[in-house]
Amino acid sequence: MCIMRFSVLFITALTVTVVSCAVLKKSGETPEEEESRAVLRLKEINEELDSKKNYNTVASWAYASNITEDNLKRMNDVSVETAKYYKELASELKGFNAKEYKSEDLKRQIKKLSKLGYSALSSEKYKELLEAITWMESNYAKVKVCSYKDPKKCDLALEPEITEILIKSRDPEELKYYWKQWYDKAGTPTRESFNKYVELNREAAVLDGFKSGAESWLDEYEDETFEKQLEDIFAQIRPLYEQLHAYVRFRLREKYGDGVVSERGPIPMHLLGNMWGQTWSEVAPISVSISEQKLLDVTDEMVKQGYTAALDV
Ligand SMILES: *[C@@H]1O[C@H](CO)[C@@H](O)[C@H](O)[C@H]1NC(C)=O
Repeated sequence: MCIMRFSVLFITALTVTVVSCAVLKKSGETPEEEESRAVLRLKEINEELDSKKNYNTVASWAYASNITEDNLKRMNDVSVETAKYYKELASELKGFNAKEYKSEDLKRQIKKLSKLGYSALSSEKYKELLEAITWMESNYAKVKVCSYKDPKKCDLALEPEITEILIKSRDPEELKYYWKQWYDKAGTPTRESFNKYVELNREAAVLDGFKSGAESWLDEYEDETFEKQLEDIFAQIRPLYEQLHAYVRFRLREKYGDGVVSERGPIPMHLLGNMWGQTWSEVAPISVSISEQKLLDVTDEMVKQGYTAALDV
């Protein structure tokens, strides 16, 4: 049923495209009249996009929540169809002289829809790109490692087992083991796909008129000073960050010793209680002494209220 609805929409979109192009060739249209026509057309396009995005999201969710070959194929087919639609849309929109329009909102919509992103690639390369991305995602989702304590048990996943060990273990060798195992299995097998992704990301950006993939990404922020703003904020936060870093390093060195944490060097990432060193809150029991601050622990209260899904590791 979804497929039928999609086809009907698709045909409608094509028909409208043809009609609009025909209208465009009509002479004697004033700039104001053209802008009014663009407003109406954009209204239709936005409605079409609503259903297409919904259709895409449903297919992506079916795969994300149930990783099967069927669901993968369906998600990618839908994605290829949508990319075609975006291409047609962009070429239709070239027929509008949007730079001259009074409405900033209208100009912006047309500019955004004319930027194709990955849809700019040929459908063959677009498929290659999807394959590279889905391979990286599914590898990431499926990584399993063997237990440090029981090498015959080899079904530990990032969620929940490895994450839980990184939070709870205070054995630096065990932490290092899981950190390395996981990065080796999540990263190394995807090297080729990652290179492909970088190459095609750049190729799509160039087709869109940018010099690099980075330039195309930065364009999304619609602010020429975006990079400068980030640099300024980072410079502002840096003195505080350096103090925090040195303090946490000092506490970890007290706990694990000089052989594990050096006095001046970086903090070994596997000691921070998080696979990516993103948040350090899990090592707060080490870095913040009890006399300084009693940490909030809601475990007892949750058990009392009947929450029983505690993780056993
Ligand atoms: C997972 O997807 C398959 C199709 O590949 C489907 O047959 C199956 O019912 C789905 N399972 C769940 C739990 O949704």
